[in-house]
Amino acid sequence: MVLPKFSLDAEILGQERMAEAVYRMTVHCPEIAEVAQPGNFVQMRLLGGEIFLRRPFGIADADAGKGTLTFMYRVLGRGTAAFSCLRPGERVNVLGPLGKGFCMDVERPLIVGGGMGLSPLLFYAKSMGKKADVLMGGKHASEMFWTKLFELYAREIYVTTDDGSMGTKGFAVSLLPELLETKNYDAVMACGPDIMMQKTAELSKAAGVPCQVSLEKRMACGLGACLSCSIDTAGGMRKKVCKDGPVFWAEEVFL
Ligand code: FES
Repeated sequence: MVLPKFSLDAEILGQERMAEAVYRMTVHCPEIAEVAQPGNFVQMRLLGGEIFLRRPFGIADADAGKGTLTFMYRVLGRGTAAFSCLRPGERVNVLGPLGKGFCMDVERPLIVGGGMGLSPLLFYAKSMGKKADVLMGGKHASEMFWTKLFELYAREIYVTTDDGSMGTKGFAVSLLPELLETKNYDAVMACGPDIMMQKTAELSKAAGVPCQVSLEKRMACGLGACLSCSIDTAGGMRKKVCKDGPVFWAEEVFL
C-alpha cells in the first residue's frame, strides 16, 4: 500500500528526557498520525537556525485520535542535540510517513529489540493489541525505561541486561532459543544492534519462524532519490532502505 506523504510544520507538545541522552518528543501532526503504520519513519527538519538537513526519526507511536506522533531518540550529534533543546510550543517540519513497515498479518509475534531499536517496535506492539511477546535487552537497568512503556501493550516481557542489573544477565538473544522452542510464535520482529539482528535472524531461521528486521542506515533524502541508503540484497538487486524498507524479511538482506 502506498501511503500519502505530507510535509507539514508541526507543533511540539512534549519533550521529555527518558535516560542519559535519550528523549521522547511528541508533536501534533494529525495528517501523518492518521495514516502512519508501525515501522514507518519521518524526516524532520528544524525551522530556522544553522542545521538545515533533515534527520530520520522512527515512529514510536501514532495516535490518530489525538493527532499526535511520538518519537524516542538518542542524542548522537549536533542535529539530534538541537532537537532535544526544542520545547513545547515550538515547531518542526515533518515529512512522512516514509518507508515500508512491519507485517501485521500475524497472530503470535515475538518482538526482539535492543536499545533505541525498541522505538519502532513500541508502535508495532501497540498496533498488535496485546498479541506480542517482547524480548528486550540493554546495557544496564537505567536504560530499561522501555519495560514501563511496553507493559501497556505486550503479553509477556522478557528482559536481559549486560550486567544483570535487571532481568536475566546477558544478551537478549541468549533467551531466544528457548522462547522459540516453547512459545509457538508465528513471526519474529527485530530491531536493534546489527549483531543482535544477525543472531535473531539466524536463530529464527533455525526454528522455522519467519523474521523481519528493521534496518538503520545513514539517510539523506528519505524518499528513494539519492541512493545514499542503498544496500545489496540476497536476490542480487540493490535496494533502498528508506523506500524498500526500513523493514525487510531477514532472508532478503545481508545482516
Ligand atoms: Fe536517499 Fe534513501 S535516503 S535514497
